[in-house]
Amino acid sequence: MDVEDLKKMAGEQACTFVNDGMAVGLGTGSTVKYTVIELGRRIREEGLNIVGVPTSIATRDLATSVGIPLVDLDDLDGLDVVIDGTDEFDGKFQLIKGGGAALLREKIVAQSSTSMVVVADSSKQVEALGSFPLPVEITPFSFGTTVKALHALLGCEIIVRQENGERTVTDNGNYIADAHTGPTIIDPVSLERSILTVAGVVQVGLFTNMCTAVVLASPSGVVTIKKDE
Ligand code: A5P
Repeated sequence: MDVEDLKKMAGEQACTFVNDGMAVGLGTGSTVKYTVIELGRRIREEGLNIVGVPTSIATRDLATSVGIPLVDLDDLDGLDVVIDGTDEFDGKFQLIKGGGAALLREKIVAQSSTSMVVVADSSKQVEALGSFPLPVEITPFSFGTTVKALHALLGCEIIVRQENGERTVTDNGNYIADAHTGPTIIDPVSLERSILTVAGVVQVGLFTNMCTAVVLASPSGVVTIKKDE
């Protein structure tokens, strides 16, 4: 069983959180893609009646291709559930997200949802957040100045994300800088708050007090861990 099998198991199992009539946030990444594909199958083959709100252009395109009806978040009075991947999660259900550069839309959608189900393989489970570089979405205006301010705040290496020698541009036209904090994020809530005080920072990939359940796949099977249990 390889990691792709684990992603598929977690992604498909998370569909048990989706019922008829729900408005569902559709996350971004290589794990939740299996959720999107399975929801499309249930719509086509079982008549599942849902609407979806995608968190990226890539997910919008995938969801459209598998037949999930999409709506604008502005036209809803909130979402019942969002299902999304993560780069790390800790024992308190705090997350680092944004490895796929979709953190801003993912956070807007998660913030609008009654519950947030995270799909993950066991490599994403950590004691403390921070081994995965912390993604920060930054507006292009005076980008270098904002990166310097972030470095002054955090005191760690900040690496500007690039693809093919060019700065990564998010779906929102912004850039990404990855903060190499090390596995030392003891208080994600206060770190999130202080990073958001830097003018020029649009959003940070710390998702605190949002996740309500993790569907976790390991070679021994899939377990669902709920926050209040
Ligand atoms: C997208 O920006 C991210 O937040 C993803 O949800 C996260 O990186 C998990 O992606 P994978 O399931 O591909 O690891």
